[in-house]
Amino acid sequence: MTDTLTTAAEVSVSGLTVLYSTDQGELPAVSRASVDLPTGKITGLVGESGSGKSTLALSMMNAVPAPGRISEGSIEVNGVGDVTKLEGKALRRVRGGALGYVFQASQNSLNPLKTIGKQLLDLGRAHDVKDLRELVHRAKELADRMGLDGDRVLDSYQHELSGGMRQRVGIVLALVLNAKVLVLDEPTTALDMLSQSAVLDIVRTVHRERGLTTLVVTHDMGVVSELADRLVVMYGGRIVEDGPTTELLQHPAHPYTRALITATARITGDTATARALPGRPPDLTTVPRTGCVFRERCALAMDVCAETEPELLAWAPDRRRACHAEPTGAEA
Ligand SMILES: Nc1ncnc2c1ncn2[C@@H]1O[C@H](COP(=O)(O)OP(=O)(O)O)[C@@H](O)[C@H]1O
Ligand SMILES: [Mg+2]
Repeated sequence: MTDTLTTAAEVSVSGLTVLYSTDQGELPAVSRASVDLPTGKITGLVGESGSGKSTLALSMMNAVPAPGRISEGSIEVNGVGDVTKLEGKALRRVRGGALGYVFQASQNSLNPLKTIGKQLLDLGRAHDVKDLRELVHRAKELADRMGLDGDRVLDSYQHELSGGMRQRVGIVLALVLNAKVLVLDEPTTALDMLSQSAVLDIVRTVHRERGLTTLVVTHDMGVVSELADRLVVMYGGRIVEDGPTTELLQHPAHPYTRALITATARITGDTATARALPGRPPDLTTVPRTGCVFRERCALAMDVCAETEPELLAWAPDRRRACHAEPTGAEA
């Protein structure tokens, strides 16, 4: 795959295809995706619901739920190797170890029947942590830094915490074993505006202070436009565009990215002109199997778009797009 990144990659996804079983057989939720998470940067993975973002993110921990499976590709994590080859103990060690993962809020990963402190100890034991008191101490310190009362939080059950607090607890548990890579799936979804910006502030701060490599997965272009150094746009299981945030927002090169930006009032600064994207995103069974996956909603669609799937190619330094239309003159 063409790659113009000059910085080192902490995580390198290459030719990743992930299949789920449906009543029409196994179908790809992610198709031949190649993307790097540059060391020390915040990458935003954005696209409408169903575009395959969570599946791509879960793959980084080799945690695609069966009977779903990674059928092709590799995911190299610095200091770990190809996580798609790991299993058993080695895999459990990576999850929550080198890779900290905060699950989508709706699919809450916290156990409702155990206090947060108990879950912290479980995590420590699963990772053969010798000094559990030290682990608790570190968790409290992290929690305090995030504006939580560490002692109180560790004694709490998840239902005693607000959505914003739960999200912070998720980050504490993801980082307490000194993860180098932090993956947050929809960290602000289902939070009110105030808690949203509090959580985003925390992500920014811990990212910087701990020198993390961070991936923020969200359907909300507004969230990542303020937070991420780089954006990766997904549609129908494909990466359709990526590049540095500012450049990508100023000069989107894929019609889908343009549509996403236009639909985001927080970027256009104008609620009245923020138009919802016409049409609906496809699912596994309805995504076109030949040609461009976006063509049915695309104003620029041409004959070739129905016949040939556009490749994700570099068209400018550090910019890639998968589109048959002319790259220049089409910017929003
Ligand atoms: N366990 C599963 N089995 C079958 N299909 C799934 C499963 N999980 C997700 N999908 C489908 O895969 C596609 C991508 O889902 P997902 O990765 O969750 O997207 P996103 O996070 O962008 O909303 C969707 O069409 C979704 O319905
Ligand atoms: Mg998701």
